[in-house]
Amino acid sequence: MKKLRIDLADRSYDILIGRNFLSRLGDHLSYFKSARRALVVTNPVVNKFYGKVLSEGLQSAGLEIECAEIPEGEAHKTLYDAQTVYDHLIENQYDRDSLLVALGGGVIGDLTGFVAATFLRGVPYIQVPTTLLSQVDSSVGGKTAVNHPQGKNLIGAFYQPRLVAIDLDTLRSLPPDEFRAGMAEIIKYGVIEDPKLFAFLEKNSEKILNQDTKCLETIIETSCAIKAKVIELDERESNYRMVLNFGHTIGHAIEALTSYSQFKHGEAVAIGMVYAAKLSCQLGKCSEGVVQKIEALVEKFGLPSNLPQFSAGEYIATMYRDKKAHNKNIRFVLVRDIGTVEIVDRVAETDIQKVLAS
Ligand code: NAD
Ligand code: GLY
Repeated sequence: MKKLRIDLADRSYDILIGRNFLSRLGDHLSYFKSARRALVVTNPVVNKFYGKVLSEGLQSAGLEIECAEIPEGEAHKTLYDAQTVYDHLIENQYDRDSLLVALGGGVIGDLTGFVAATFLRGVPYIQVPTTLLSQVDSSVGGKTAVNHPQGKNLIGAFYQPRLVAIDLDTLRSLPPDEFRAGMAEIIKYGVIEDPKLFAFLEKNSEKILNQDTKCLETIIETSCAIKAKVIELDERESNYRMVLNFGHTIGHAIEALTSYSQFKHGEAVAIGMVYAAKLSCQLGKCSEGVVQKIEALVEKFGLPSNLPQFSAGEYIATMYRDKKAHNKNIRFVLVRDIGTVEIVDRVAETDIQKVLAS
Protein backbone atom coordinates (compact mmCIF):
# COMPACT_ATOMS: atom_id res chain seq x y z
CA MET A 1 0.00 0.00 0.00
CA LYS A 2 1.34 3.42 -0.97
CA LYS A 3 0.45 6.45 1.11
CA LEU A 4 0.70 10.05 -0.16
CA ARG A 5 0.02 12.98 2.13
CA ILE A 6 -1.67 16.16 0.97
CA ASP A 7 -0.54 18.88 3.30
CA LEU A 8 -3.19 21.54 3.92
CA ALA A 9 -2.77 22.45 7.61
CA ASP A 10 -5.89 21.26 9.48
CA ARG A 11 -7.40 20.00 6.22
CA SER A 12 -4.52 17.61 5.45
CA TYR A 13 -5.27 14.03 4.45
CA ASP A 14 -3.84 10.82 3.09
CA ILE A 15 -4.30 9.28 -0.33
CA LEU A 16 -4.01 5.49 -0.03
CA ILE A 17 -3.22 3.60 -3.22
CA GLY A 18 -3.35 -0.19 -3.13
CA ARG A 19 -5.07 -3.33 -4.30
CA ASN A 20 -7.92 -5.33 -2.90
CA PHE A 21 -8.17 -3.40 0.38
CA LEU A 22 -11.79 -2.25 0.49
CA SER A 23 -12.57 -5.21 2.75
CA ARG A 24 -10.01 -3.79 5.23
CA LEU A 25 -10.75 -0.09 4.83
CA GLY A 26 -11.85 0.10 8.46
CA ASP A 27 -8.20 -0.45 9.47
CA HIS A 28 -7.40 2.98 8.03
CA LEU A 29 -10.13 4.96 9.76
CA SER A 30 -8.41 5.78 13.02
CA TYR A 31 -9.21 9.47 12.34
CA PHE A 32 -12.89 8.76 12.81
CA LYS A 33 -12.86 7.33 16.30
CA SER A 34 -15.84 9.49 17.21
CA ALA A 35 -17.94 8.37 14.21
CA ARG A 36 -20.63 5.79 14.95
CA ARG A 37 -22.38 5.73 11.61
CA ALA A 38 -21.42 5.99 7.98
CA LEU A 39 -23.62 6.52 4.94
CA VAL A 40 -22.18 5.08 1.73
CA VAL A 41 -23.39 7.09 -1.29
CA THR A 42 -23.09 5.21 -4.57
CA ASN A 43 -25.00 4.22 -7.72
CA PRO A 44 -26.60 0.85 -8.55
CA VAL A 45 -23.80 -0.24 -10.93
CA VAL A 46 -20.96 0.42 -8.52
CA ASN A 47 -22.98 -0.81 -5.55
CA LYS A 48 -23.45 -4.17 -7.25
CA PHE A 49 -19.68 -4.58 -7.66
CA TYR A 50 -18.28 -3.07 -4.47
CA GLY A 51 -21.08 -2.07 -2.06
CA LYS A 52 -21.01 -5.24 0.01
CA VAL A 53 -17.25 -5.55 0.37
CA LEU A 54 -16.90 -1.87 1.30
CA SER A 55 -19.73 -2.04 3.86
CA GLU A 56 -18.11 -5.06 5.48
CA GLY A 57 -14.75 -3.29 5.48
CA LEU A 58 -16.29 -0.30 7.27
CA GLN A 59 -18.28 -2.45 9.72
CA SER A 60 -15.00 -3.96 10.88
CA ALA A 61 -14.16 -0.48 12.26
CA GLY A 62 -17.30 -0.66 14.40
CA LEU A 63 -19.32 1.67 12.19
CA GLU A 64 -23.01 1.22 11.59
CA ILE A 65 -23.42 1.31 7.79
CA GLU A 66 -26.28 2.35 5.53
CA CYS A 67 -26.30 2.96 1.82
CA ALA A 68 -27.99 5.62 -0.34
CA GLU A 69 -28.18 5.06 -4.09
CA ILE A 70 -28.29 7.82 -6.70
CA PRO A 71 -29.29 6.70 -10.21
CA GLU A 72 -26.38 6.32 -12.60
CA GLY A 73 -25.03 9.13 -14.76
CA GLU A 74 -24.13 12.80 -15.02
CA ALA A 75 -27.84 13.68 -15.34
CA HIS A 76 -28.11 12.74 -11.65
CA LYS A 77 -25.51 15.16 -10.33
CA THR A 78 -28.24 17.60 -9.32
CA LEU A 79 -29.62 19.40 -6.29
CA TYR A 80 -32.65 17.11 -6.54
CA ASP A 81 -30.40 14.03 -6.18
CA ALA A 82 -28.47 15.69 -3.35
CA GLN A 83 -31.84 16.30 -1.70
CA THR A 84 -32.53 12.56 -1.65
CA VAL A 85 -29.30 12.10 0.33
CA TYR A 86 -30.19 14.98 2.72
CA ASP A 87 -33.62 13.34 3.17
CA HIS A 88 -32.01 10.06 4.14
CA LEU A 89 -29.62 11.76 6.56
CA ILE A 90 -32.36 13.81 8.21
CA GLU A 91 -34.99 11.05 8.39
CA ASN A 92 -32.42 8.75 9.97
CA GLN A 93 -31.12 11.40 12.38
CA TYR A 94 -27.51 11.48 11.29
CA ASP A 95 -25.47 13.93 13.35
CA ARG A 96 -22.15 15.77 12.99
CA ASP A 97 -20.23 12.68 14.08
CA SER A 98 -21.44 10.79 11.04
CA LEU A 99 -19.27 10.00 8.07
CA LEU A 100 -20.19 10.07 4.38
CA VAL A 101 -18.42 7.70 2.01
CA ALA A 102 -18.43 8.38 -1.75
CA LEU A 103 -18.18 5.06 -3.59
CA GLY A 104 -18.07 5.62 -7.36
CA GLY A 105 -16.74 7.87 -10.10
CA GLY A 106 -16.57 11.66 -10.25
CA VAL A 107 -20.35 12.09 -10.33
CA ILE A 108 -20.82 10.32 -7.00
CA GLY A 109 -17.67 11.90 -5.54
CA ASP A 110 -18.64 15.47 -6.45
CA LEU A 111 -22.22 15.07 -5.23
CA THR A 112 -21.30 13.32 -1.98
CA GLY A 113 -18.63 15.93 -1.26
CA PHE A 114 -21.21 18.67 -1.83
CA VAL A 115 -23.69 17.03 0.54
CA ALA A 116 -20.90 16.58 3.13
CA ALA A 117 -19.93 20.27 2.79
CA THR A 118 -23.49 21.45 3.39
CA PHE A 119 -25.25 18.96 5.69
CA LEU A 120 -25.24 20.38 9.24
CA ARG A 121 -22.72 22.98 7.92
CA GLY A 122 -20.22 20.22 7.18
CA VAL A 123 -19.64 16.59 8.10
CA PRO A 124 -16.54 14.51 7.28
CA TYR A 125 -16.41 12.43 4.12
CA ILE A 126 -14.02 10.05 2.43
CA GLN A 127 -13.57 9.33 -1.25
CA VAL A 128 -13.45 5.78 -2.59
CA PRO A 129 -13.03 6.51 -6.33
CA THR A 130 -13.73 3.68 -8.76
CA THR A 131 -13.05 5.21 -12.20
CA LEU A 132 -9.61 6.07 -13.52
CA LEU A 133 -10.64 9.71 -13.88
CA SER A 134 -11.83 9.93 -10.30
CA GLN A 135 -8.73 8.14 -8.98
CA VAL A 136 -6.31 10.57 -10.59
CA ASP A 137 -8.35 13.75 -10.54
CA SER A 138 -11.79 14.35 -9.06
CA SER A 139 -11.36 12.55 -5.71
CA VAL A 140 -8.32 14.67 -4.81
CA GLY A 141 -8.44 18.39 -4.14
CA GLY A 142 -11.84 19.08 -2.60
CA LYS A 143 -13.80 20.50 -5.54
CA THR A 144 -17.37 19.43 -4.85
CA ALA A 145 -20.43 20.37 -6.90
CA VAL A 146 -23.76 19.60 -8.44
CA ASN A 147 -24.95 20.78 -11.84
CA HIS A 148 -27.58 23.44 -12.59
CA PRO A 149 -29.77 23.35 -15.72
CA GLN A 150 -27.76 26.39 -16.93
CA GLY A 151 -24.39 24.67 -16.60
CA LYS A 152 -22.12 22.07 -15.06
CA ASN A 153 -20.76 22.35 -11.52
CA LEU A 154 -22.33 25.77 -10.99
CA ILE A 155 -23.33 25.00 -7.39
CA GLY A 156 -20.52 23.79 -5.21
CA ALA A 157 -17.91 24.31 -2.54
CA PHE A 158 -14.26 23.67 -1.86
CA TYR A 159 -14.40 21.01 0.85
CA GLN A 160 -11.61 18.52 1.35
CA PRO A 161 -12.22 14.82 2.07
CA ARG A 162 -10.58 13.26 5.14
CA LEU A 163 -9.17 10.34 3.18
CA VAL A 164 -8.95 9.15 -0.42
CA ALA A 165 -8.82 5.36 -0.73
CA ILE A 166 -7.86 4.21 -4.23
CA ASP A 167 -8.24 0.48 -4.80
CA LEU A 168 -6.76 -0.23 -8.24
CA ASP A 169 -8.64 -3.51 -8.49
CA THR A 170 -11.91 -1.60 -8.93
CA LEU A 171 -10.69 -0.58 -12.40
CA ARG A 172 -11.05 -4.18 -13.60
CA SER A 173 -14.81 -3.78 -13.98
CA LEU A 174 -14.56 -0.35 -15.63
CA PRO A 175 -15.70 -0.22 -19.30
CA PRO A 176 -12.68 0.35 -21.63
CA ASP A 177 -14.03 3.68 -22.94
CA GLU A 178 -14.23 5.00 -19.36
CA PHE A 179 -10.65 3.83 -18.77
CA ARG A 180 -9.43 5.64 -21.89
CA ALA A 181 -11.27 8.83 -20.86
CA GLY A 182 -9.36 8.79 -17.55
CA MET A 183 -6.09 8.54 -19.50
CA ALA A 184 -6.69 12.05 -20.88
CA GLU A 185 -6.21 13.55 -17.41
CA ILE A 186 -3.01 11.53 -16.93
CA ILE A 187 -1.64 12.80 -20.26
CA LYS A 188 -2.54 16.27 -18.97
CA TYR A 189 -0.32 15.80 -15.89
CA GLY A 190 2.56 14.82 -18.16
CA VAL A 191 2.13 17.94 -20.27
CA ILE A 192 1.73 20.40 -17.41
CA GLU A 193 4.36 19.08 -15.02
CA ASP A 194 6.23 15.91 -15.83
CA PRO A 195 8.11 15.06 -19.06
CA LYS A 196 9.16 11.72 -17.49
CA LEU A 197 5.51 10.73 -17.00
CA PHE A 198 4.78 11.80 -20.60
CA ALA A 199 7.65 9.63 -21.90
CA PHE A 200 6.47 6.72 -19.73
CA LEU A 201 3.00 6.97 -21.30
CA GLU A 202 4.52 7.06 -24.80
CA LYS A 203 6.57 3.94 -24.09
CA ASN A 204 3.98 1.86 -22.21
CA SER A 205 0.63 2.65 -23.83
CA GLU A 206 -0.19 -0.96 -24.65
CA LYS A 207 0.68 -2.27 -21.19
CA ILE A 208 -1.33 0.54 -19.60
CA LEU A 209 -4.40 -0.18 -21.75
CA ASN A 210 -4.08 -3.82 -20.65
CA GLN A 211 -4.03 -2.60 -17.04
CA ASP A 212 -0.55 -3.89 -16.26
CA THR A 213 -0.27 -3.69 -12.46
CA LYS A 214 3.11 -1.97 -12.19
CA CYS A 215 2.31 0.55 -14.91
CA LEU A 216 -1.04 1.44 -13.34
CA GLU A 217 0.57 1.97 -9.94
CA THR A 218 3.21 4.23 -11.48
CA ILE A 219 0.85 6.46 -13.44
CA ILE A 220 -1.80 6.75 -10.71
CA GLU A 221 0.71 7.48 -7.94
CA THR A 222 2.53 10.02 -10.12
CA SER A 223 -0.72 11.74 -11.12
CA CYS A 224 -1.97 11.95 -7.52
CA ALA A 225 1.40 13.30 -6.38
CA ILE A 226 1.29 16.03 -9.04
CA LYS A 227 -2.28 16.96 -8.17
CA ALA A 228 -1.46 16.99 -4.44
CA LYS A 229 1.47 19.35 -5.06
CA VAL A 230 -0.69 21.74 -7.09
CA ILE A 231 -3.46 21.76 -4.44
CA GLU A 232 -0.96 22.38 -1.65
CA LEU A 233 0.24 25.48 -3.47
CA ASP A 234 -3.18 26.84 -4.45
CA GLU A 235 -6.10 25.04 -2.81
CA ARG A 236 -8.78 27.46 -3.99
CA GLU A 237 -7.63 28.07 -7.54
CA SER A 238 -6.59 31.67 -7.09
CA ASN A 239 -4.00 31.13 -9.81
CA TYR A 240 -1.61 28.17 -10.07
CA ARG A 241 -4.30 25.45 -9.74
CA MET A 242 -5.59 26.67 -13.10
CA VAL A 243 -2.78 24.68 -14.76
CA LEU A 244 -5.03 21.66 -14.10
CA ASN A 245 -7.40 23.15 -16.66
CA PHE A 246 -5.04 22.50 -19.57
CA GLY A 247 -7.26 21.29 -22.41
CA HIS A 248 -10.42 22.29 -20.54
CA THR A 249 -11.19 25.67 -22.20
CA ILE A 250 -12.06 24.02 -25.51
CA GLY A 251 -12.95 20.72 -23.76
CA HIS A 252 -15.75 22.33 -21.75
CA ALA A 253 -17.05 24.09 -24.86
CA ILE A 254 -17.18 20.76 -26.72
CA GLU A 255 -19.11 19.16 -23.85
CA ALA A 256 -21.59 22.05 -23.65
CA LEU A 257 -22.13 22.30 -27.43
CA THR A 258 -22.84 18.57 -27.62
CA SER A 259 -25.21 18.71 -24.61
CA TYR A 260 -22.91 16.54 -22.48
CA SER A 261 -24.08 13.50 -24.40
CA GLN A 262 -21.62 12.88 -27.23
CA PHE A 263 -18.26 12.99 -25.46
CA LYS A 264 -17.05 11.84 -22.08
CA HIS A 265 -15.28 14.57 -20.10
CA GLY A 266 -11.87 12.99 -20.75
CA GLU A 267 -12.56 12.68 -24.49
CA ALA A 268 -13.48 16.36 -24.74
CA VAL A 269 -10.35 17.27 -22.74
CA ALA A 270 -8.23 15.17 -25.13
CA ILE A 271 -9.43 17.23 -28.11
CA GLY A 272 -9.05 20.39 -26.03
CA MET A 273 -5.41 19.54 -25.24
CA VAL A 274 -4.58 19.03 -28.91
CA TYR A 275 -6.13 22.39 -29.86
CA ALA A 276 -4.56 24.20 -26.87
CA ALA A 277 -1.21 22.87 -28.10
CA LYS A 278 -1.98 24.03 -31.67
CA LEU A 279 -2.88 27.47 -30.31
CA SER A 280 0.36 27.54 -28.30
CA CYS A 281 2.34 26.78 -31.45
CA GLN A 282 0.41 29.37 -33.47
CA LEU A 283 1.26 31.98 -30.81
CA GLY A 284 4.94 31.02 -30.92
CA LYS A 285 4.97 29.43 -27.43
CA CYS A 286 5.99 25.93 -28.51
CA SER A 287 7.31 24.05 -31.51
CA GLU A 288 5.28 22.05 -34.00
CA GLY A 289 7.04 18.97 -32.57
CA VAL A 290 5.35 19.47 -29.18
CA VAL A 291 1.94 19.59 -30.86
CA GLN A 292 2.69 16.39 -32.77
CA LYS A 293 3.82 14.59 -29.59
CA ILE A 294 0.61 15.51 -27.72
CA GLU A 295 -1.62 14.61 -30.66
CA ALA A 296 0.18 11.28 -31.16
CA LEU A 297 -0.14 10.33 -27.48
CA VAL A 298 -3.83 11.22 -27.38
CA GLU A 299 -4.41 9.01 -30.42
CA LYS A 300 -2.27 6.17 -28.99
CA PHE A 301 -4.73 5.94 -26.13
CA GLY A 302 -7.68 5.77 -28.53
CA LEU A 303 -8.87 9.25 -27.64
CA PRO A 304 -10.37 11.67 -30.19
CA SER A 305 -8.26 14.57 -31.47
CA ASN A 306 -10.59 16.33 -33.92
CA LEU A 307 -13.07 19.07 -33.10
CA PRO A 308 -16.75 18.32 -33.61
CA GLN A 309 -18.26 20.58 -36.29
CA PHE A 310 -19.52 23.83 -34.82
CA SER A 311 -18.78 27.34 -36.02
CA ALA A 312 -15.98 29.35 -34.41
CA GLY A 313 -18.70 31.77 -33.24
CA GLU A 314 -20.52 28.98 -31.39
CA TYR A 315 -17.29 27.81 -29.74
CA ILE A 316 -16.30 31.29 -28.68
CA ALA A 317 -19.74 32.22 -27.31
CA THR A 318 -19.73 28.98 -25.29
CA MET A 319 -16.24 29.69 -23.93
CA TYR A 320 -17.38 33.12 -22.68
CA ARG A 321 -20.23 31.44 -20.77
CA ASP A 322 -17.91 28.96 -19.02
CA LYS A 323 -17.42 29.63 -15.32
CA LYS A 324 -13.67 29.52 -15.91
CA ALA A 325 -13.84 32.56 -18.22
CA HIS A 326 -12.20 35.42 -16.36
CA ASN A 327 -13.44 39.04 -16.36
CA LYS A 328 -15.11 38.33 -19.69
CA ASN A 329 -11.81 37.08 -21.11
CA ILE A 330 -11.18 33.59 -22.42
CA ARG A 331 -8.35 32.05 -20.46
CA PHE A 332 -6.11 29.30 -21.83
CA VAL A 333 -3.38 27.16 -20.36
CA LEU A 334 -0.75 27.16 -23.10
CA VAL A 335 2.18 24.79 -23.47
CA ARG A 336 5.79 25.86 -23.90
CA ASP A 337 7.28 22.39 -23.82
CA ILE A 338 6.27 18.99 -22.47
CA GLY A 339 6.26 19.64 -18.71
CA THR A 340 6.00 23.44 -18.88
CA VAL A 341 2.83 25.47 -19.31
CA GLU A 342 1.69 29.02 -18.73
CA ILE A 343 -1.69 30.53 -17.89
CA VAL A 344 -2.71 33.20 -20.38
CA ASP A 345 -5.62 35.32 -19.24
CA ARG A 346 -6.49 36.95 -22.49
CA VAL A 347 -6.28 35.26 -25.87
CA ALA A 348 -7.52 37.30 -28.82
CA GLU A 349 -10.68 36.01 -30.48
CA THR A 350 -8.96 36.17 -33.88
CA ASP A 351 -6.28 33.75 -32.64
CA ILE A 352 -8.92 31.39 -31.27
CA GLN A 353 -10.85 31.57 -34.55
CA LYS A 354 -7.71 30.72 -36.48
CA VAL A 355 -6.90 27.65 -34.40
CA LEU A 356 -10.49 26.40 -34.51
CA ALA A 357 -10.30 26.52 -38.30
CA SER A 358 -6.98 24.63 -38.43
P1 NAD B 1 -18.88 8.83 -13.71
O1 NAD B 1 -18.82 9.10 -12.27
O2 NAD B 1 -20.12 9.18 -14.45
O3 NAD B 1 -18.55 7.29 -13.95
C1 NAD B 1 -18.51 6.81 -15.28
C2 NAD B 1 -19.31 5.52 -15.43
O4 NAD B 1 -18.58 4.45 -14.86
C3 NAD B 1 -20.66 5.54 -14.72
O5 NAD B 1 -21.56 4.93 -15.60
C4 NAD B 1 -20.41 4.66 -13.48
O6 NAD B 1 -21.57 4.01 -13.06
C5 NAD B 1 -19.41 3.68 -13.99
N1 NAD B 1 -18.49 3.14 -13.00
C6 NAD B 1 -17.84 3.78 -12.02
N2 NAD B 1 -16.95 2.97 -11.43
C7 NAD B 1 -17.07 1.76 -12.03
C8 NAD B 1 -16.40 0.54 -11.88
N3 NAD B 1 -15.37 0.39 -11.05
N4 NAD B 1 -16.79 -0.50 -12.65
C9 NAD B 1 -17.78 -0.35 -13.57
N5 NAD B 1 -18.42 0.80 -13.79
C10 NAD B 1 -18.05 1.85 -13.03
O7 NAD B 1 -17.67 9.55 -14.51
P2 NAD B 1 -16.21 10.01 -14.09
O8 NAD B 1 -15.50 10.16 -15.38
O9 NAD B 1 -15.63 9.19 -13.01
O10 NAD B 1 -16.47 11.46 -13.47
C11 NAD B 1 -16.99 12.50 -14.23
C12 NAD B 1 -17.47 13.57 -13.27
O11 NAD B 1 -16.35 14.05 -12.51
C13 NAD B 1 -18.07 14.79 -13.95
O12 NAD B 1 -19.26 15.14 -13.27
C14 NAD B 1 -17.02 15.88 -13.76
O13 NAD B 1 -17.59 17.16 -13.67
C15 NAD B 1 -16.40 15.46 -12.46
N6 NAD B 1 -15.02 15.94 -12.25
C16 NAD B 1 -14.74 16.54 -11.08
C17 NAD B 1 -13.46 16.98 -10.82
C18 NAD B 1 -13.13 17.57 -9.49
O14 NAD B 1 -12.01 18.07 -9.31
N7 NAD B 1 -14.03 17.49 -8.52
C19 NAD B 1 -12.44 16.77 -11.77
C20 NAD B 1 -12.76 16.14 -12.97
C21 NAD B 1 -14.07 15.72 -13.22
N1 GLY C 1 -9.90 19.08 -12.03
C1 GLY C 1 -9.37 20.38 -11.86
C2 GLY C 1 -9.13 20.74 -10.45
O1 GLY C 1 -9.29 19.94 -9.56
O2 GLY C 1 -8.79 21.86 -10.18
